[in-house]
Amino acid sequence: MSHKPDPNKSVSLTIDGIPVTVPEGTRILEAAKKVNVYIPTLCEHPDLCKRAFCRICVVEADGRGKLIAACANDVWEGVKIETNNRRLLDVRKTILELILANHPQDCLSCIRNKKCELQTLANVLCVRASPFDRVSMSKPQTIEGETFVRDMEKCVKCGRCVEVCHEVQTIGAINTSGRSHNFEISVPYKQSLEDTPCVFCGRCASVCPVGAIYEHDQSAKVLAELFSGDRHLIAQVSGGMASAMDKEFGLAAGTITVGKLIAAIKLLKFKKVFNEKLAANLSDAETGGELEERAKNGGKLPLISGSSDGVFRFVNYFYPDLTDHLSAGKSPEKTFANLIKNIYAGAEGLAASVITTVSFVPTIAQKYKSGENNFVLAAGELARMIKLAGLDTGALSEEQFDSIKLPNSYKAESPACAAQKKIVSGFAEARKVMEAIRKGECTDKWVEIKG
Ligand code: SF4
Ligand code: SF4
Ligand code: FES
Repeated sequence: MSHKPDPNKSVSLTIDGIPVTVPEGTRILEAAKKVNVYIPTLCEHPDLCKRAFCRICVVEADGRGKLIAACANDVWEGVKIETNNRRLLDVRKTILELILANHPQDCLSCIRNKKCELQTLANVLCVRASPFDRVSMSKPQTIEGETFVRDMEKCVKCGRCVEVCHEVQTIGAINTSGRSHNFEISVPYKQSLEDTPCVFCGRCASVCPVGAIYEHDQSAKVLAELFSGDRHLIAQVSGGMASAMDKEFGLAAGTITVGKLIAAIKLLKFKKVFNEKLAANLSDAETGGELEERAKNGGKLPLISGSSDGVFRFVNYFYPDLTDHLSAGKSPEKTFANLIKNIYAGAEGLAASVITTVSFVPTIAQKYKSGENNFVLAAGELARMIKLAGLDTGALSEEQFDSIKLPNSYKAESPACAAQKKIVSGFAEARKVMEAIRKGECTDKWVEIKG
């Protein structure tokens, strides 16, 4: 029977001769961090379970010569851990050289250049080239749902994407297959992700340590439209974008304010910049109206709305018996595109066909099915546009959002019932609510799933 660690019990040990006491069940990696001993890692991720796929983090225990993974093994009483000797450095270096032998050496043009954990590791371990012959796997890049790119030539087989897809999101669209050299991350039956339960949440891209899964970058397309002068580009900015931009630029939180972000987008030559709240309120008003209608006519409740089209995929695939709970309302991005092409175009005397709308959002889930001339760009894409245009983020002024006069038929305020909607974040939580709806145990009238 396996021993269940008791976090109330303390364990004392040494790491590179430094004494440390930690709760039972602490991993060697965490104990080392406590005494500022750095152990390199690659497959490990703080939000995911132990996998120990890469073995970069190997250490020695009690001088017995056996190599153990610091990320996957707990400390034990009195153990003497060694993290730093010639043998360990050589082992780590060889593992890294073998990974690099399977990796395209195109850092300069890679989207993750300077943000790649493999590149950082190569720097830390002073690996400049691999002595092994380069083995190309000849795997094509694929664009999935206009949301992200999969480039399995760059995969370092850390397993993070599979873990997040199965364990965190509970979707299970991708898998591991094969062993040893043939081990790979695969889509069952080599299908396109569109043919799987994938909900295009983009969480696999967010945990990938290298450029093997990344957002489908449409910044160049949008810049080309801005520079062409033929198109009329209108932007909306979501809440959370300013702090996402701080992270993109490696700045302290609060450096890029919403006002500075508006100024940057205007300098990129967008004609108008609106607050996403406007479209979010209109979208809520539309769904609120639908809710009232259903309540009056005995329609299916709770009404289920979603922050992205991936949410609708989720319900259709996993809960086909509950699809009549889905709202007919549109996402704020699509509501925005409709508003601009109908109301704004009319007010400005423009043909809708010359207008392109761009929604700037902090994550990539909303990129799925964004539609023609209606781009959805994530924080990384906006950061690339700002860099390419040579804008100095430190010299931006503070600007205000533009406003729009809406006809009386448009309700610019979120309806009162929206205050009572149950917001569910992530698909694991959504599953619990869906099960409750299935059993008739959900008492909420409106459930919004944020995927
Ligand atoms: S986008 Fe989400 S659902 Fe699709 S493979 Fe990635 S983690 Fe899984
Ligand atoms: S695709 Fe990325 S996250 Fe998935 S196993 Fe490969 S390197 Fe790791
Ligand atoms: S980081 Fe520990 S095995 Fe990969």
